[in-house]
Amino acid sequence: MNTKTKKIIIANWKMNPLTIKEAEALGKETNRAAQKNIETVVCPPAPFLGVVGKTLKSKSISLGAQNVYGEKSGAFTGEISVPMLKSFGVAVTIVGHSERRALGENDQDVASKVKALVAGGITPVLCIGEHTRDDGGAYLEVLKNQLLQSLSGIAAAAVKKVVIAYEPIWAIGKTGDDAITGRHLHEIVIFIRKVLVDTYGKSNKDVRIIYGGAVAPENAHELIAEGMVDGLLVGHLSLKPKQFSQILASTAALK
Ligand code: PGA
Repeated sequence: MNTKTKKIIIANWKMNPLTIKEAEALGKETNRAAQKNIETVVCPPAPFLGVVGKTLKSKSISLGAQNVYGEKSGAFTGEISVPMLKSFGVAVTIVGHSERRALGENDQDVASKVKALVAGGITPVLCIGEHTRDDGGAYLEVLKNQLLQSLSGIAAAAVKKVVIAYEPIWAIGKTGDDAITGRHLHEIVIFIRKVLVDTYGKSNKDVRIIYGGAVAPENAHELIAEGMVDGLLVGHLSLKPKQFSQILASTAALK
């Protein structure tokens, strides 16, 4: 993933669409929307990785996965490993999404996935986010714990290979008005950076931090420009080619 300077926009299709045919059509439309100065990543459901991968012909777009298992192979019914993802050309993988955590995944599981991805040369996108906010700021402690526990066992030198996705659960799946404001997002970005530098050292001051939760064409610009994030993780609107291409275009227009 060539994202040192480029913004990253990740399409998380979640458990959509329903058929190979629809997935192929959506892959083609997303590929057409790609912008040269943005790294777009498309994360379809696992059964569609092959067909969608073939539709992503633009140089600035790559294939991603929504989940992975920490072991390479063996008796793990239903799981998918890093080498399997690599054989499809997967470059990026989301881990620890709140919807997976709600299904029972814990920080330890997430950490084993991050470790396996880093070892295999796939960029992990580690999701963290609080359920609710409180005036006393206890949610910051929740975020810090989730971040550090989900990175446990990862060498300091490897932390910079991880992309952190801040996804407050209260914003996920909502409309643009419910997203965080750019100013509040910036506070979180500063907080996450401080935790990373305090824990892993100054060489991790540029770890990429992106935002997800109710990203829309109307707020993409503000979230990046004022939030100072390195990119966005887009859920339900990544299934709507028109809106997704507007999100890409408004990000591409940023100076
Ligand atoms: P949303 O989802 O854009 O639908 O809010 C984001 C996510 O869950 O990654």
